[in-house]
Amino acid sequence: MTIQREAFGTLDDGQPVDCYTLTNESGMEARIMTYGGTLLSLRVPDRDGHLADVVLGFDALAPYLGEHPYLGGIIGRYANRIAGGSFSLDGRIYQLTQNEGPNQLHGGELGFHRQLWRALPQKTRNADQLVLHYLSRDGEEGYPGDLHVEVIYTLTSRNELRVDYHAQTDRPTVINLTHHAYFNLGGGETILDHVLTLTAERYLPVDGLLIPTGELAPVADTPMDFRMPTTIGSRIHEQDAQLLRASGGYDHCWALDSNTGILAAELYDPGSGRRLHVYTTQPGVQFYSGNFFDGSVVGKGGRVYGKYAGLCLEPQHFPDSPNQPDFPTTVLGPHDFYQHSTIYAFDVA
Ligand code: BGC
Repeated sequence: MTIQREAFGTLDDGQPVDCYTLTNESGMEARIMTYGGTLLSLRVPDRDGHLADVVLGFDALAPYLGEHPYLGGIIGRYANRIAGGSFSLDGRIYQLTQNEGPNQLHGGELGFHRQLWRALPQKTRNADQLVLHYLSRDGEEGYPGDLHVEVIYTLTSRNELRVDYHAQTDRPTVINLTHHAYFNLGGGETILDHVLTLTAERYLPVDGLLIPTGELAPVADTPMDFRMPTTIGSRIHEQDAQLLRASGGYDHCWALDSNTGILAAELYDPGSGRRLHVYTTQPGVQFYSGNFFDGSVVGKGGRVYGKYAGLCLEPQHFPDSPNQPDFPTTVLGPHDFYQHSTIYAFDVA
C-alpha cells in the first residue's frame, strides 16, 4: 500500500492543487485531487487482471476549472435539486443561488466540487486513506451556518474504495453530500450494455424540471424496475414519460429498501467482467445514465463524451427534501453529527 503526492497545477488565484495516488497490493489505484476532492481516475482489474481506468474525467486541471458536468467531484452542500433554489427552516426563508433555471443543482455555482480541500494522507493497519477537510462558511451559496466537512477516501486491500462523510454545523442547516463519479467499466462508447441491479422497490417520479413530485412510486411494471439484473439499454429508449423528461434516459432517485449499509446497487460489464457493488448508509441512490452528454465534453485521452458515455450512482438523501416534509429530513443542527458512508467494491465475474 502506498500514497504519493504530486503537484497538479494551480488555481487562477495561484493556490496549488495536489493529486494523491493511493495504490493497493493488487495494483488497484485511485487518484484524487484537492480541487473538489475530485476522483481523477480509478484503475481496477478486469477478468484477465488488466488494469484500466473506470471513471470519466480529464487529464489536466484546466478543464476541471471550466464548465463540466461535475465529473468525479464531491457534491455539497446539497446534492441534487432544491426547487426554486429556496427552502424555509425554523420560520426563515433561505434563498440559495439558482444555477439551473429557477432551481439549485449540486450546491450552486461554487459547490463543494469547486472548492479547494485540505488534504491529510494517513495509513491504517489495512488501508491507505486520504482525509479531506473543507469549511463551508455561513452564507456560502445561500446556506446558513459554518459547516465543517470531512470526507475520507479509503482504498482497501479488498479492492474497495470507501468514502466516509462527516460534518458539523454551528447553526441549523440542510445537508446532502454525495459523490459524482461517472463509471464506465468497459471503456466502450456507452454504458448501455452494462447490467444494473438496484435494491429498490420504489423510485421518485419527477416533474419537467426533474424535481420529485413527492410520490414514492412502485418500480414494478415500469422501465425503472432494476430489482433483477437488467441491461441498461434494454428499456432506455421506451416512450416513457419519466425517461423522456430526463432527455431519454435515467436521472432519478431510487428509494433504497434499506439504508443500513446493505447493497444498494450492482453494476456489471459483461465485456470486461468488471463488477461494482455499491453499499451505502444513505436512503436513496440517484442513477443518472449520462443522458445530457452531447459530445461537447472532451475527456481523458481526447475521448469525446457522447450520450450515455458514463453513468453515476450517487448515494444520497432524496432531492428537494428541504421542501418535501414527507421525505426523510436533511436538517442538521448544531448538536448533530452528520455521518454517511459509501463503499464501491470491485471484483470480476
Ligand atoms: C443530475 C443530472 C445532471 C448531472 C450533471 C446528476 O447528478 O441528476 O440531472 O445533469 O448530475 O450535471
